Amino acid sequence: MKRAFILFAFIGLVWACQPEIDNTRSDYVPTPLGLTIPPSLPQVAFPSDNPLTVEGVALGRKLFWDPILSADSTQSCGSCHAPQFAFTDNGLATSTGIRGQNGTRNSMPIMNLMYSTSFFWDGRAQTLHHQALMPIEDPLEMDDQLSNVIQKLEGSSFYPEEFRKAFGTTGITEDRIGLALEQFMLTFISGDSKFDRFMLGTAQLTASEQRGMEIFNGDIENGSSGPAADCFHCHGQSVFSNNKFMNNGLDSALSDLGLFLVSGNEEDKGKFKVPSLRNIELSGPYMHDGRFNTLFEVIDFYDSEVENNSPNLDPNMHGIRLGLNLSQQQKSDLIAFLRTLTDTTFVNNPDFQSPF
Ligand code: HEC
Ligand code: HEC
Repeated sequence: MKRAFILFAFIGLVWACQPEIDNTRSDYVPTPLGLTIPPSLPQVAFPSDNPLTVEGVALGRKLFWDPILSADSTQSCGSCHAPQFAFTDNGLATSTGIRGQNGTRNSMPIMNLMYSTSFFWDGRAQTLHHQALMPIEDPLEMDDQLSNVIQKLEGSSFYPEEFRKAFGTTGITEDRIGLALEQFMLTFISGDSKFDRFMLGTAQLTASEQRGMEIFNGDIENGSSGPAADCFHCHGQSVFSNNKFMNNGLDSALSDLGLFLVSGNEEDKGKFKVPSLRNIELSGPYMHDGRFNTLFEVIDFYDSEVENNSPNLDPNMHGIRLGLNLSQQQKSDLIAFLRTLTDTTFVNNPDFQSPF
């Protein structure tokens, strides 16, 4: 896996050294982008059916920030996925789509999606290029038709040329819109937080952050010596998510059935995608419906408000649901640790901002 990466980066380098590429020639191919995953994150391959290219990412960036993708040209993807909020919706509990329509779910952060195998809170999209087309036709979000969006893009003064640069031939298709958006979103890699620098030995945690990390990784049932909160079972390792679908016990009566809506299996009722906790300080309000405004509310929930009789409550909640009984200090420590996951290099990266 790693070798493939180095090779990929090397190819990128060779291309970068080539003189001006004449992109009007018939043998033109887009420029491979050698993107590397930071050393504190697991090394994985990007989707092989959509190799990242400089031109593909540039096109994806335009599409992501262009309100032309919505029926009344008022909303872009970036309207509900703002970089300063870790690509969530500007501190809103649930998103407002075009014509002021209210959605029912909290906008999800877009970062490190190379580890995800399905998308949305209920996992209804299997690939990111598929996912990317769904908000466009979602009646509560951008409420357009893809055929109409294609017509608008074809009529633009620059998109036809941008599509040719990205894919080698002219032609604007649904597929290509999805692929370009996927490419751009895959570049949203967050791996330069204080926690990452701590992992690499170039930063130190404060005493409080260190205690918080021990609580986070403390295993209740397997005899942790200090206070333990079992968080790592689901938000583990340096991704801070296992990318599975689970019920963490928010409700005894479910108003949103989560994964069940997609699978139809009884045992999936109440399960939602385990979110990564990276940049969690910036992405509130929290949970699929944005019910908690602050991290203190979240910790209070795990400490003493887990619904024991929530359908399909995950077995990893067995220790937590009995009550964590954390002191105020321990709660603050846990939050101090969560704040070490904030990556300001990531949220301020100029390459992610609107190109318009
Ligand atoms: C009106 C606000 C809104 C707009 C516009 C919007 N999104 Fe979203 N996005 C959301 C919400 C809300 C969710 C969670 C929805 C759900 O789970 O049902 C979400 C989920 C996602 C996810 C899933 C992340 C994950 O971890 O599974 C991705 C990726 C995403 N959006 C990308 C996009 C792209 C690309 C566009 C533009 C084509 C876009 N969004 C437009 C609000 C929006
Ligand atoms: C059984 C697996 C599991 C365990 C254990 C667990 N979580 Fe979660 N966590 C989830 C799931 C699933 C969600 C999303 C739930 C939803 O919105 O319906 C979530 C959501 C969150 C969120 C909100 C994220 C967001 O983007 O809205 C935070 C913060 C969080 N958990 C922190 C913790 C902490 C701290 C602990 C330890 C005390 C912990 N979790 C233990 C599964 C778990």
